[in-house]
Amino acid sequence: MSIPRWVRRVTCAAVVFPILVSMWNPSPAGAADQDQKVQKARRTLITIATLDQMTSLPGELGPLPAVPIPMTNLQTPAKVELGKELFFDPRLSGNDHWACSTCHNPSFGYTDNLPRSLGFGDEKELGRHSPTIINVAYNSAQFWDGRAATMEEQAMGPIVAAREMNSDPQVMIKKISGIPAYTEQFKQVFGEEPTLKNIGMAIAAFERTVVTGESAFDRYIKGDKQALNDQQKRGLILFVSRAACTQCHKGANFTDSSFQNLGLPQSGPLKEDLGRYNVTKDPNDKGAFKVPSLRNIEMTAPYMHTGAFKTLEEVVEFYNQGGGSGPNKTPKLLPLNLTDGEKKDLVAFLKGLTGPLPQVMLPQLPPRS
Ligand code: HEC
Ligand code: HEC
Repeated sequence: MSIPRWVRRVTCAAVVFPILVSMWNPSPAGAADQDQKVQKARRTLITIATLDQMTSLPGELGPLPAVPIPMTNLQTPAKVELGKELFFDPRLSGNDHWACSTCHNPSFGYTDNLPRSLGFGDEKELGRHSPTIINVAYNSAQFWDGRAATMEEQAMGPIVAAREMNSDPQVMIKKISGIPAYTEQFKQVFGEEPTLKNIGMAIAAFERTVVTGESAFDRYIKGDKQALNDQQKRGLILFVSRAACTQCHKGANFTDSSFQNLGLPQSGPLKEDLGRYNVTKDPNDKGAFKVPSLRNIEMTAPYMHTGAFKTLEEVVEFYNQGGGSGPNKTPKLLPLNLTDGEKKDLVAFLKGLTGPLPQVMLPQLPPRS
């Protein structure tokens, strides 16, 4: 006796459908909890009066802790001074024209104010925007895709990168070793001749001093309730509630150190930039980039790894529309329906994150002989 076709169909569906449902599990339990928390945060109504009463802020926003210093590269004034000289010294490059400070210029918030930096020699546009080195001491990974784990490792990268400073390491080390004042300093600081490794260590030590001092926001959370004005307080409220910026920009340095795909359109010379995927080869990381700090953000325009947004207003408008689009875009960005006034509030708050930077006097570079 044969089973009627409709019975077979229904039985088949009854078996296959639950299997499909069990495979279709877009968010593991933790992520679902997180979503509910975020949904709740988006709906939470906070007034300026209640904000002023809060002793701790959502998203663990707060003052920066002391700069973490690795045991393998302790800070000394002489090392920091040497690192500063090297940071500003174009002789680290293949043609004596490119210094770290060319693209990370203190006058422009340690960036170059260009959408994308101009590379070595022929000044061709690089594929990505030059990020600031302000507060990189707090990063858990360096570069937009996090491919360097430490600042020491990072600093060696651009020196030898053909499109950045294009040095042959041996030639460069010979050049630096030929400068008597430098050999003297390296001997004093490291007890040895200059090497690519100790050059990276000295530069990293200098970078660890380029950190932001107290901003209006910091003074506010430490108890000076007048440090932010009402517009900035409204912006802060949006930041932690309806706009849910703290999903990613959280903690003392306004980043959770994750990598996210905001659906930004590609701009510049690259056709496609797979970002974090290049490091992890995880398809979920395609087009994901590091969540940057927002401290001193008003000093470091233009914005994003593409350098595509000229102003903070443009960035806020991008988020207001729910970010960009694309196959791998994060579900965390939703249209915000902010009024013009609310957009201004958010920008005003972001400007309240600017703290003083240590005064950096341009170093006198040691002469060749
Ligand atoms: C030609 C321009 C250029 C020069 C010269 C240059 N950089 Fe960069 N720097 C960039 C760009 C562009 C990036 C981002 C690259 C990426 O993410 O793939 C970057 C990234 C960085 C980062 C990572 C910051 C972060 O938040 O992830 C640090 C730190 C840094 N550079 C320090 C240096 C140091 C130290 C030197 C000198 C040894 C240097 N740079 C020379 C353009 C430059
Ligand atoms: C899903 C995580 C996420 C959320 C939510 C988020 N951001 Fe971002 N933000 C990022 C990432 C990732 C970047 C860098 C993206 C890139 O360049 O590809 C970024 C970049 C920025 C920048 C530019 C930083 C720079 O140095 O170029 C600003 C400003 C900014 N975000 C502000 C905000 C504000 C304001 C909100 C809330 C309306 C917000 N972000 C919400 C992840 C997020």
